[in-house]
Amino acid sequence: MSRKPFIAGNWKMNKTIAESVALADELKPMVAGVRDVEIAVCPTFVSLAAVGEAIEGSNIALGGQNTFWKESGAWTCQISPQMLVDAGCKWVIVGHSETRGRFGTVDDELAKLLSYFGECDATVNMKAKYAFEAGLTPIIACGELLSEREAGRTDEVISAQMAIDLDGFTKEQAMRMVIAYEPVWAIGTGQVCDPDEADRVCGLIRAIVKKMHGADVADAVRIQYGGSVNDKNAAELLSKPNIDGALVGGAALKADAFATIIGSAR
Ligand code: PGA
Repeated sequence: MSRKPFIAGNWKMNKTIAESVALADELKPMVAGVRDVEIAVCPTFVSLAAVGEAIEGSNIALGGQNTFWKESGAWTCQISPQMLVDAGCKWVIVGHSETRGRFGTVDDELAKLLSYFGECDATVNMKAKYAFEAGLTPIIACGELLSEREAGRTDEVISAQMAIDLDGFTKEQAMRMVIAYEPVWAIGTGQVCDPDEADRVCGLIRAIVKKMHGADVADAVRIQYGGSVNDKNAAELLSKPNIDGALVGGAALKADAFATIIGSAR
């Protein structure tokens, strides 16, 4: 089964509205001819509508960086999937390590204490389910900390995350979902995961999907790698059989680097 590669840019907390629009405008002509790779950009919430307008009619789709499991109401600071759809989104990232409060680049103990945003696998699962219901497709992120990898616990951690994150989806939803394997120690550090090891973990994720949702879903589901992907290392990562795309942070903030990564997925 051939899976269409999917490259998504996670712009995190970067760029003003004007800068976001400028980046989208710069990227658009660079990737205009690309039909065999799916492309998305995920700007900050405040830039979504403006970027959505800038990329309208192009082959670049819009995504949110997080969402909530209610449609509206007294939930200060939250953005519902319906609001993301209204802003033009097709995609939403859920369970990113930076919303889970699992950091590789700052003091892990401090992150644990702060338990940023109260995110856990159960809330990641609720967000994904509710995103589906609202018509969005979730990019569900998972990944182990450096301390977990060093303790030989990578497979156990990923398996535990997936068992809860991917639970209870309908067949149609599971077919559509995208999973991003992002080892936390590789995010924003310049320390990319060895491509064979990234492929091995993505293969493990595919085997878990097979057990939970069946062989047809495992064949169809797209699994991205994320963590220090750049224009130099993307081609080798994307050549691996179980890696169907990339979730790109830092390198997505430069149009030419992001366009090169998209080119290496073709
Ligand atoms: P990075 O971030 O490419 O800057 O490492 C990836 C991510 O956090 O999605």
